Amino acid sequence: MGSKTMYEKTADMYDYRHQSPTTKLMRKKEKAFLKHISGLVLDVGCGTGYHLSFFPEIIGIDISKSMLKHAKKRKKPLVICSGEKLAFKDKTFDGIVCFSVLNFCNAEKTVKEISRVIKDNGMVLVSVASVYDKNYSYKEKKSLKIDKYHKVKKFYVCREKARMKLFTKKDFVELFEKNGFMLKEFDSLFVRVKPKWNSFVGFSFIEKLLLALERVFDKKYGCVYFGLFEKAPGSQ
Ligand SMILES: C[S@@+](CC[C@H](N)C(=O)[O-])C[C@H]1O[C@@H](n2cnc3c(N)ncnc32)[C@H](O)[C@@H]1O
Repeated sequence: MGSKTMYEKTADMYDYRHQSPTTKLMRKKEKAFLKHISGLVLDVGCGTGYHLSFFPEIIGIDISKSMLKHAKKRKKPLVICSGEKLAFKDKTFDGIVCFSVLNFCNAEKTVKEISRVIKDNGMVLVSVASVYDKNYSYKEKKSLKIDKYHKVKKFYVCREKARMKLFTKKDFVELFEKNGFMLKEFDSLFVRVKPKWNSFVGFSFIEKLLLALERVFDKKYGCVYFGLFEKAPGSQ
C-alpha cells in the first residue's frame, strides 16, 4: 500500500488518533519553530490541515483527497498534488513547512521539488521520524524489519503493508544540503510519538525519564527530528 492509499483509508480517524500526549508534545516543538516562517507559505503534505491555521497566507497540498476533505474546515486554499511533483512555479514561496511527510513518500524527489519552489533565503521547516523511533517498544522493535537504508520493510496500517523510511540525522541533513539548503536549527523529541488507539494516558515512567534526558543526550538520538533550513541564494 502506498502512502496515498494509507491516508485515504485512515483520514477520518487522523485527528482523533493524534490527540495522545506525545503528539501534543510534538506539536509544541513544531510551534516553537513556526515564528521563522512568514510570507507566502506552502504546507507540503498538510493532511487534515493542523498547521494551516498558523499562517495568514498559506496553501496546503496533499496527495490524499480524503485528508484534504478534513482540511477544508481551515478555510485556506488547498491543492491535491504530490510533493514529488509540485504544481507551482520556481521560487514561488517565502516559506515551506513539511511535517511528518518525508517518511512516507519519495523524500529525494520531494526535497528537490521543495528546493525548486522556495525563494532564495526562504526558510523550510521539516519534521521526520528518526531511526530511533523504533526503539521504545520491544514488541515493535521485533516486528519492524529495517534494512540498511532505514526503509522499514514491514509497516502495517489497517492490516495492510505500507511504505515507511526512517532517517538518521546525517541522512536528514544531507538530503537538504545536497538540494542547496543550510541547516539553521535542529531539535528532536525523545519520546516516541504515539498516534495510536487507547494511548491517551499520561507519560509512562520510561517516557518521563527520556524527556528528562533530552537535555543531556545528543539530539540525534531523538525519535522525531525538527530541522529549520534556509535556501542558499544561487543554488540550483
Ligand atoms: C503523518 S501525515 C502528516 C500530516 C500533517 N503534515 C500533520 O503534521 O498533521 C502525512 C501526510 O502526508 C501526505 N503524503 C504522503 N505522501 C505524500 C506525497 N507524495 N505528496 C503529498 N502528500 C503526501 C499524506 O497523505 C498525509 O496527509
